[in-house]
Amino acid sequence: MKRAIGVIDSGVGGLTVAYELMRQLPKEELVYVGDTLRCPYGPRPEHEVRQYTKEMIQFLMKKNIKMVVIACNTATAFALEELKNILPIPIIGVIQPGARAAIKSTKNQQIGIIGTEGTIRSNAYTTALAQINADLDVTALACPLFVPMVEKGILKGDQAEQVVMETLRPLKKTTNIDTLILGCTHYPLLGPTIQRVMGEDVNIISSSEETARETSTILEINALLYQGTREPVHHFYTTGDLDLFKKISHGIFHEEKKELPQVHIEKIDL
Ligand code: DGL
Repeated sequence: MKRAIGVIDSGVGGLTVAYELMRQLPKEELVYVGDTLRCPYGPRPEHEVRQYTKEMIQFLMKKNIKMVVIACNTATAFALEELKNILPIPIIGVIQPGARAAIKSTKNQQIGIIGTEGTIRSNAYTTALAQINADLDVTALACPLFVPMVEKGILKGDQAEQVVMETLRPLKKTTNIDTLILGCTHYPLLGPTIQRVMGEDVNIISSSEETARETSTILEINALLYQGTREPVHHFYTTGDLDLFKKISHGIFHEEKKELPQVHIEKIDL
């Protein structure tokens, strides 16, 4: 099946999921939309996040995609259930995969979740975790300063370290978690800083690996996997600053991959 997989986020965060999709499904093509212009989604009311998410998916449907991955926790929390009922193609989010990965990781059953205000307010993670295991001790914390910092390209250095340290202080001081869910797809870009601040004993979970695995399973079950041989060409679209988006995405793929995938990046209006 030659059609691409659609991936959406409020900005550059979903590229952490796109990266993992490219790694696990190297023959599949991606069409990515980052709504950088209206990022962050975290502080926005639920109806607005739902509306913007639908606009990104409408854009992707015109590209004839075969599946949607909502690579944004905030949009997953507010829009996934409704979209599952109205879309004619498979759609998944990042919250269930993240919850599953955390449950696999924890040994002392004490799990922390960090995310945007919207994701934390929705209780989507606490609900997803409790559905699998009701005996977990879960602490959730909103980190509203992280996304604006990542969108500016500030991923390491003194300022990043300072903001991460100040924000995560309550988690460090008052809990004994052994597992921390990065409940926002922007946060893996601050991953090394978060790991340093939380200490080596805390296992940091990003949902991207598990989400890519689930994507692969869903494509297989629905006979949608690409079967031929090809060098895939990916298309990334941003609604915001093109140069900044290019800079951050090149940073992610250059640092992680030896061979750069073929990616075309363009600016769009939704
Ligand atoms: N990357 C997103 C998430 O996973 C959204 C961040 C934001 O726009 O506030 O929640």
